Amino acid sequence: MRTGATAVTIRRAGIDDAAVVRGLILALAVHQNQGDAVTVSVADLERMLARPEITYLVAERAGRAVGYVSWLERTSFWSGEDYFALDDLFVAGPERGHGVGERLMRAVADAAKGKVIRWEVAEGNVAARRFYERIGARLVTKQICRWQPR
Ligand SMILES: CC(C)(COP(=O)(O)OP(=O)(O)OC[C@H]1O[C@@H](n2cnc3c(N)ncnc32)[C@H](O)[C@@H]1OP(=O)(O)O)[C@@H](O)C(=O)NCCC(=O)NCCS
Repeated sequence: MRTGATAVTIRRAGIDDAAVVRGLILALAVHQNQGDAVTVSVADLERMLARPEITYLVAERAGRAVGYVSWLERTSFWSGEDYFALDDLFVAGPERGHGVGERLMRAVADAAKGKVIRWEVAEGNVAARRFYERIGARLVTKQICRWQPR
């Protein structure tokens, strides 16, 4: 089967894609050994995909989902400007290294129309860090705080 990126199409997922979207999210979580952390249901995703500030782009080859990128639109309290908070980027294992990830990021850039795009990457994810630097992103080290007060 051809794996050239030319045969891949990218489109915005809608509520009818919720089950496929859940499968892709689970695939990324399993890849990161965090499969148990995915508790979102298809019904939750149907609601989320209907929200205007949420965008989920799916990459497909011959009608089969092979990757995705997702983001939320947020507003900066410092600049007062909107920015894109990227949530996830994922390309299925056999599809990696053929430009699908870069095409997904270029699609985000097109949608951003000059807005800043921000996201997180684990320090140990060396390949993804190199990929982000190659497309021109600047990587800044910060620590993530999580707090779930009871
Ligand atoms: C990072 C990722 C989205 C890149 O997608 P891709 O379609 O392979 O990317 P492209 O083909 O456009 O570019 C290839 C680059 O991806 C990087 N890459 C990361 N993991 C890779 C893998 N398993 N196979 C091939 N390339 C990989 C390489 O660094 C390569 O850059 P290089 O050419 O400088 O070596 C994809 O590899 C992936 O889904 N990885 C697992 C999930 C992940 O880490 N997501 C990012 C979380 S912040």
